[in-house]
Formats: sequence, structure tokens, C-alpha cells
Amino acid sequence: MLIEDVKIAQEILEREDIVAIPTETVYGLAANIFSEKAIKKIFELKKRPFFNPLIVHIKSIDYLTQIADDIPVDAMKLAETFWPGPLTLVLKKKSEISDLITSGKKTVGIRVPNHKLTLRLLQNLDFPLAAPSANTFQSISPTLPEHVVKNFGQNLAILDGGPCQLGLESTILGFENEKVILYRLGAISIEEIEKVVGKVQIQNNENSKPDAPGMLSKHYSPRTKIILTTDLKSEILKFQDQKLGVLQFGNEVKENQAFKIETLSKSKNIKEAASNFYQALHTLDLHDLDLIIAEKMPNEGLGKTINDRLTRAISK
Ligand code: TXA
Ligand code: MG
Repeated sequence: MLIEDVKIAQEILEREDIVAIPTETVYGLAANIFSEKAIKKIFELKKRPFFNPLIVHIKSIDYLTQIADDIPVDAMKLAETFWPGPLTLVLKKKSEISDLITSGKKTVGIRVPNHKLTLRLLQNLDFPLAAPSANTFQSISPTLPEHVVKNFGQNLAILDGGPCQLGLESTILGFENEKVILYRLGAISIEEIEKVVGKVQIQNNENSKPDAPGMLSKHYSPRTKIILTTDLKSEILKFQDQKLGVLQFGNEVKENQAFKIETLSKSKNIKEAASNFYQALHTLDLHDLDLIIAEKMPNEGLGKTINDRLTRAISK
């Protein structure tokens, strides 16, 4: 059920139920952080294992000290630079934050989302919102209300904020022994983070220690098999007998060379490509293809984040 009125979303959340909310990154599935009942409902609906913690969404940086303790100077600098925006900080949690949200960890992930409707909603509520991405466990993240409907059906209330502007999840950073650690590549590039706090340590691929289980190797995955290449044309030639989908950065491959082609940015603008990425995967996944051939992005800036998601999408 699509709703446009923030007041209705507010009422649903106040009676300890859940609502899908728009953010600048992807849609989230939101609940009152103080309602065990609502939080449990998120895990059930997402089929999400309880070892995977949720991000707490707050209305402004001023609310940070009500959720976290011992906030490092670098964390404050980053929050001041990027909030509201696609940056999640993993900080020491206050005791009021339930283990259900943090999966028993002593830390909690926090961000201020940058979407007009959701900020208004947070202003109206007297509690923050816990919200994972509004997709079932390990499937493609939602950047449109219809993606949320595809995942959870018509019964779920969805606050309709249109397409998500950035289209990739937030970058997740933690702080260990005075160092800034990157747990998940996201909508803010490493280069932008390093301009603020200097060199960061990257722990994006630690399967043995899933500090951010968004890092589990299989994730963000379509149903259709995907392969990743730097040479689209020769890969397409190898699979001529198959019903092929192509996910390309620019428009190198023309319409008649595959059954369905999704172009992320004709002018090869990486920001535009990022905003179209999940939507393109959703579209390709609808066509009952034998195989999706995806083009690797240039490995810098947001290209790194897209390559990370592509790698996880092919890991079966
Ligand atoms: O852009 C986003 O971050 C979106 C929107 C809705 O805000 N949310 C999102 O949530 O991507 P989710 O649940 O799909 O991914 C959150 C990631 C998970 O990989 C989780 O493990 C990690 O954040 N995380 C949350 N709390 C953590 C903590 N205390 N320590 C380490 N990782 C944490
Ligand atoms: Mg997710």
C-alpha cells in the first residue's frame, strides 16, 4: 500500500507497526527502536538472521549522544561533514539500545538519512527508527516503491518518496584503536572519506569476521545467474545461444546484441550509473534470462562500490 502522507506513516509507527521509508540511498523497512514487537516484525518479514544488526536512523546530529557513548573526534568530524547523508557510523552503544537491534554487539550503526519525507517523519516522531534495506535477505536492494512491493506485497505500508537519489547503500565506518575502519563500501567513496580523516583501513571483505554482515559474500543478488567482465563484446559472443541480459556502464553494446540491455549512464557518469544500478538489476531480473553479463566499472570512487555489489551478486 503506497502512502504519501507522513502523518499516516507516523501513526503506523506509533502503534508499533512497520513502514517502508524512502532514503537517499535505498528504501528502508522502519520500526520504532524502542519497540521489541516492531523490531521483531522487521526480522521476520525480511527473513533476516538475528546476527545481522540494524542501522538506527536519527533526525539530526544533535540526537547522536542519546544513542552512542565515547564518540571519537573523527566520528564527529565525519558526521558534521556528511550528515544528513549516506554515512553510517558504528559507535559504542548506550545501554538503552536493545541487543535485538545490535545483535548483541556493544556497538550500534547510526545515520541521519537525507530524504525530505523521512526527515519530516523523524522530526514528528519522538523515537528514532531502526531500518534495514527493504528487501528480503540477500536479494537486490530497493530503490523504488515498486521494488518494495515486489519483495513484500501490497499489505506493507510504503511511504512513497519516488526513486532514491543515490541508489547505493550508505558507507559504513567504525573506529578501532584510533583508526577509522571501512566496513562497507557505499554511496560516499573512500576518497571523499579520506579527505576528512586521512587514510582509512579497509575491512570490506572479511567473510570470516562479518562485522558488517552486509559484507557476507553472497548479497544483493538477483535470481538470474550473473557473470562479470571487462570485455562485454567477446563475452556476449561466447553465449550466443542463450537468452542474454547485459548490464553496461556506457552504451558500447547496441540493442540487437542481447535480449535485454540496461545502460547505466550513456555519458559514463559514475554518479548517474550508481543511481541506476539496482533498478537495472531489478529490471533484468524480470525477464527470465539465462544469463546476465555485467560490465566491471572503473575501480575508483563509486565504481569500487558498484564492483563490490556486482561481485557479491555473482557469489552463489
Ligand atoms: O543506506 C543504508 O544504509 C540503508 C538505508 C535504509 O539506510 N540501510 C541498510 O541497512 O543498508 P542494511 O540492514 O541492509 O545494512 C546495514 C549493514 C549491515 O550489513 C549490518 O551488518 C551493518 O550495517 N551494521 C549495523 N550495525 C552494525 C554494527 N553495530 N557493527 C557492524 N556493522 C553493523
Ligand atoms: Mg541490505
